[in-house]
Amino acid sequence: MTAPDESWLKKRGIVIRANAEDLAAAGADMFCQTARQSVERRGFFAVAVSGGTTPRRMHRLLSRNPRLSEIPWRCTHLFWVDERMLPPDQPGSNFGAARRDFLDRVPIPPGQVHPIPVTEDPEEAAARYEEDLKNFFHRTKEGFPEFDLIFLGVGKDGHTASLFPGRPGMEETGRWVTPVKGGDPEVNRVTMTYPVLNRARQVVFLISGKEKAGIMKTLFQTKEARLPARRIRPLNGKPIWLMDREAASQLTGAVAGRVLGN
Ligand code: 6PG
Repeated sequence: MTAPDESWLKKRGIVIRANAEDLAAAGADMFCQTARQSVERRGFFAVAVSGGTTPRRMHRLLSRNPRLSEIPWRCTHLFWVDERMLPPDQPGSNFGAARRDFLDRVPIPPGQVHPIPVTEDPEEAAARYEEDLKNFFHRTKEGFPEFDLIFLGVGKDGHTASLFPGRPGMEETGRWVTPVKGGDPEVNRVTMTYPVLNRARQVVFLISGKEKAGIMKTLFQTKEARLPARRIRPLNGKPIWLMDREAASQLTGAVAGRVLGN
């Protein structure tokens, strides 16, 4: 295959930024713009964020001007794509990290922050979270909730959310959220399922760092269909793959040295 050029990247929704800081800024801008558009159109903004390390830099930018004052926090409803069954004060808690990174410093009404419950039995946590989602989305007629925006990451094994290669969660098509075990740390988790992730109006993947270059190449330049991240096809048909140059380095060949992005 010839080295991908700008049209190859654009066709696949790939947007490249020079480094992790610029990537975080681009992600924070997407959060801000989508929030404003959604509130204008529907009167509210329903967004789900992922855990892990990549989104944290972006989250911190949300709690600083100019974005802090531009985001319609009073109309924003924040959910999590997945959560490890760890208390918020423990490293590894996605909610705990978000609280430290931005939630403690933004004026989002507490009742509009929807962390995934952490319980001994992940089955109970999943059932309670599904109830919370159904109460908010009023059990939409199509049967699945329609988020305005969902941020996802990708693991080196191609997992996304807490949908891991070959694990049962990948086959779940009825439930909105499901308990799983896996990942690093290998703990009990609760994750949104593909029917929910794929009903989002827009999905944005945030991928950063050299250690993700290999999985990006596999995702975009092989036919490896079993990778969880490949099964993400949002309502509008195309996720945005927002990545920094390091993550794209095995992907873009001839244009690797240039920063592409629109
Ligand atoms: C989680 C995340 C997970 C994450 C990827 C990438 O809770 O673990 O939701 O899906 O997005 O593992 O994580 P990094 O950003 O840390 O590479």
